[in-house]
Amino acid sequence: MATSKQHANKSTLIIVSNRLPLSLRKVDNSFESSTSSGGLVTALSGLTDSMNFKWLGWPGITAANDEEQENAQRALGEKMAKGIFLEEQLAQDHYDGFSNTILWPTLHYQSGIEFREEFWEAYRQVNEIFADVVAEEAHTGDLIWIHDYHLMLLPSLLRSRLRAQGKECPIGFTLHTPFPARDVWRGLPVEKELVTGMLASDVVGFHTEEYKENFATACVNHSDVVGLEETDCIRMGDHLAHLGVFIVGIDPIKFSETLKNPYVVNRINELRHMHSNKTIMIGVDRLDYTKGLVQKLKGYERFLNDNPELRNKVVLVQVAVPSRENVKEYQDLEEEIQTLVGKICGEHCAPDNFPLVYMHRSISFTELTALYSVAEVCLVTSQRDGMNLVASEYIACQGHRHGVLVLSEFAGAASFMQEGSILFHPSSTDQLSQAIYQAVTMNQDERKKRYESLCDFVTNYTRCA
Ligand code: ADP
Ligand code: F6P
Repeated sequence: MATSKQHANKSTLIIVSNRLPLSLRKVDNSFESSTSSGGLVTALSGLTDSMNFKWLGWPGITAANDEEQENAQRALGEKMAKGIFLEEQLAQDHYDGFSNTILWPTLHYQSGIEFREEFWEAYRQVNEIFADVVAEEAHTGDLIWIHDYHLMLLPSLLRSRLRAQGKECPIGFTLHTPFPARDVWRGLPVEKELVTGMLASDVVGFHTEEYKENFATACVNHSDVVGLEETDCIRMGDHLAHLGVFIVGIDPIKFSETLKNPYVVNRINELRHMHSNKTIMIGVDRLDYTKGLVQKLKGYERFLNDNPELRNKVVLVQVAVPSRENVKEYQDLEEEIQTLVGKICGEHCAPDNFPLVYMHRSISFTELTALYSVAEVCLVTSQRDGMNLVASEYIACQGHRHGVLVLSEFAGAASFMQEGSILFHPSSTDQLSQAIYQAVTMNQDERKKRYESLCDFVTNYTRCA
């Protein structure tokens, strides 16, 4: 962590999120770390070189005692990431329970959610624990940047601790998911606590105008506590919170550099050779119902059935990284996907032709980059998605291939990438099948024109500082 000498020179950016950039696993009494998957870690990965910062969060495991905690902290690395260790049941009820069984589906417009007091209590407690640790780490002048829905109460809990300790630090909060329309949000009995928790920040950031507007509307619902000052400013007592839209992006240079790596060049050639005479399509998603994987497979199946002449000429490579595997909805989804994959392969695969490759695992960055590069088409089929960085990553790896992006209207990315991509409604199997057909049969001139527009967005608006 930053030393006091470091501190005398510069103020520190303190990033706080539930997920750290490294996740730990216990292997025979010791701890191993691996890079965490997900948009948040990707979006913030460019910060490492450029700023004096530290990152506080939950390392994803339980440490039984102080000695284990020290070992776990060592596995995270001494300098940058600081683990906030939680007791197992509490972590489960906060992460699997309130965050991912109640809040995540609400934010993504799912219905039939059952509110459970014990999960809410755990959520509150974890936010309190985070507030204690962050307040202790912070010094006056540090900038505190809190991320995502696991920590919506943290700005207000932290603000009061900092005040009590006489520390002055600006607090920013960024939500990496959609913020839903008022009627959906009101389905949560604790929505007022969550909204007022976030409003204790100086800046509250969203990925799109729509999410920001929805949040402002949710605040108006509590006119007994807050007042709309002017556009994008909300007053709560003597505190003013500024709302903003901040486009979250990737570091395109990291991808273009990796594409020059001889291993990746060789791998691209290998993959091309393996699938010669075929149009390769790619899908890269966490295995999450919000990503529309079921709909993607159904749309692809429809495309294969409707276009028999193309069956031997396409292959969809779908990578699905395991995610939130303790949550029932995710377990059910995994089964559903496996059944669908089996059905499609059973109907369409032959000894000399396989139109679907399904990988249920995390893959290395080099393999990911090679796959993005060889694919002529990328399918992003989110039912709802805060932004979706896969869309940008794919474009960053395309270069002269001028790949076609088939993009769900309900991904946040569609607000910025509509011009070059083929947009479709994610609930329509027909629309997806037709969009795939359009992508596969698109002529070079149109591919180039669309790609250039997408490339402008990725390089001009999402480059890391
Ligand atoms: P989310 O934030 O919901 O996870 P995004 O599309 O914004 O969704 O970000 C996903 C990130 O995770 C991307 O940077 C992507 O490269 C990475 N990722 C997704 N699936 C895999 C996988 N199977 N292997 C490695 N990285 C993956
Ligand atoms: O996009 C929302 C998000 O929660 C990100 O913050 C995170 O990177 C990703 O989903 C992965 O989620 P988890 O931390 O549950 O693995």
